[in-house]
Amino acid sequence: MEALIALCKRRGFIFQGSEIYGGLPGTYDYGHYGTLLKDNIRASWLKHMVQLREDVYGLDSAIFAHPKMWVASGHVGNFDDPQVDCKNCNNRMRADHLLESFGINADKASIEFINEELDKLRAAKKLKCTNCGSSDLTQAKKFSLMVKSNLGSPTDALSEENVVYLRPETCGGIYLDYKNTLDSLHPKLPFGIAQVGKAFRNEIAARQFVFRTREFEQMEMQYFHDKKDTDRLYEEWREVRWNWYLEMGIDPSALRWYKHEKLAHYASKAYDIEYNFKSLGGFKEVEGFHARGDWDLSQHSKFSGVDLTYFDEETKQHFIPHILETSAGLNRLMLMFLDAALVEDELNGEKRTVLKLPVQLAPIKVAVFPLLKNKPQLVGKAHEVYKLLRTKFVTEFDDNGNIGKCYRRQDEIGTPLCVTVDFETLEQGTGVTVRDRDSGAQERVSEAELISYLQGKIG
Ligand code: GAP
Repeated sequence: MEALIALCKRRGFIFQGSEIYGGLPGTYDYGHYGTLLKDNIRASWLKHMVQLREDVYGLDSAIFAHPKMWVASGHVGNFDDPQVDCKNCNNRMRADHLLESFGINADKASIEFINEELDKLRAAKKLKCTNCGSSDLTQAKKFSLMVKSNLGSPTDALSEENVVYLRPETCGGIYLDYKNTLDSLHPKLPFGIAQVGKAFRNEIAARQFVFRTREFEQMEMQYFHDKKDTDRLYEEWREVRWNWYLEMGIDPSALRWYKHEKLAHYASKAYDIEYNFKSLGGFKEVEGFHARGDWDLSQHSKFSGVDLTYFDEETKQHFIPHILETSAGLNRLMLMFLDAALVEDELNGEKRTVLKLPVQLAPIKVAVFPLLKNKPQLVGKAHEVYKLLRTKFVTEFDDNGNIGKCYRRQDEIGTPLCVTVDFETLEQGTGVTVRDRDSGAQERVSEAELISYLQGKIG
């Protein structure tokens, strides 16, 4: 993890939020390459989930929603984690995570169960603060993850009824716009609505870099269907989502399904896709996959007083569709891709750090350098090639340092192809060299063929 965090900071992928003020825990900023990498992950997800589907539509709903909506969804009453504090050092811990470290599964367990288990550990003198080792810990209590806002006129009193929350997940907006989508696009069941956007949770322990943060992006799709089709569609979507990871270059042996045994009262199935993070020392959830029944739309219909039924033309029946949900964290997936790509290897006898990102995710696709930085003719020509290539690919120009350093820098940010302008380019018009990130192999390519050559490699 240290090597990954250091690379992210040094090469401008990810910075601690508000760093010059000492940092704001649980927040991160994405620098130039981080933004490009995140954009590429988002674009691939949207391509697979919306562009390549006839039955899924896009949405970008507001982050703020009507206060009643979070009461209807159950978040105001129930969206919490169990918290334990250390009385010695004030360290705040997730009680379920503490139990997990003793092999006790407290996933979605009641606060009573958690306290009973904690008491047993306390009696056995095993319960210790994860920070200072003190055994003086509080009882577990519920801690709401909802982030409140003071949206509205400064004179409005913030009463419990009109408090506005920052959304803790993006799917809520999808339920609110299900009817607008039906009325404007007239889709037939089954159909999905997908959106990517920010979500906010007052996480108790936001400590594993961008794995768990207080502000993050989710990529969620809700698939509305007739309940008789739930089992079949669940399996179909499971396959679609699993295959996306393989297509994005993730080794299947580093992935697995985790089946939730304890389910929310409205859910009939819940699985997570887990990835084996080298940087976090094991399998952790990257995406949730849930069969949510008709609970969400029924609740919103009840609380809003608006009819959210679907009319089936064939059977002439009105009913509330059931929902399958796929929910992935964009920042967490970025950590997964960095974790999978970061390699220390040896090329031509030299040690190097390289990000072996799949081409479609690499922030920079092509880098262009002059062989020597102090030869104006080489620099001028390289700049000319760069200006041509940047119209087609995300391209970077670098004449800062010797060629070996330029290659190392591009390896570290995962650039798949490096183009070098050398004396032969100028004198004999024999084109440029193109060097492959993974093998280090170089090929000479004529200037006339350069764009189509690169397109063949990059797409
Ligand atoms: N709508 C369902 C839902 O939000 P979730 O399991 O709470 O389900 C789905 O979240 C995904 O969102 C997780 O698998 C994870 O990738 C991401 N996620 C959740 N909380 C996060 C956090 N605090 N920081 C980063 N990613 C988070």
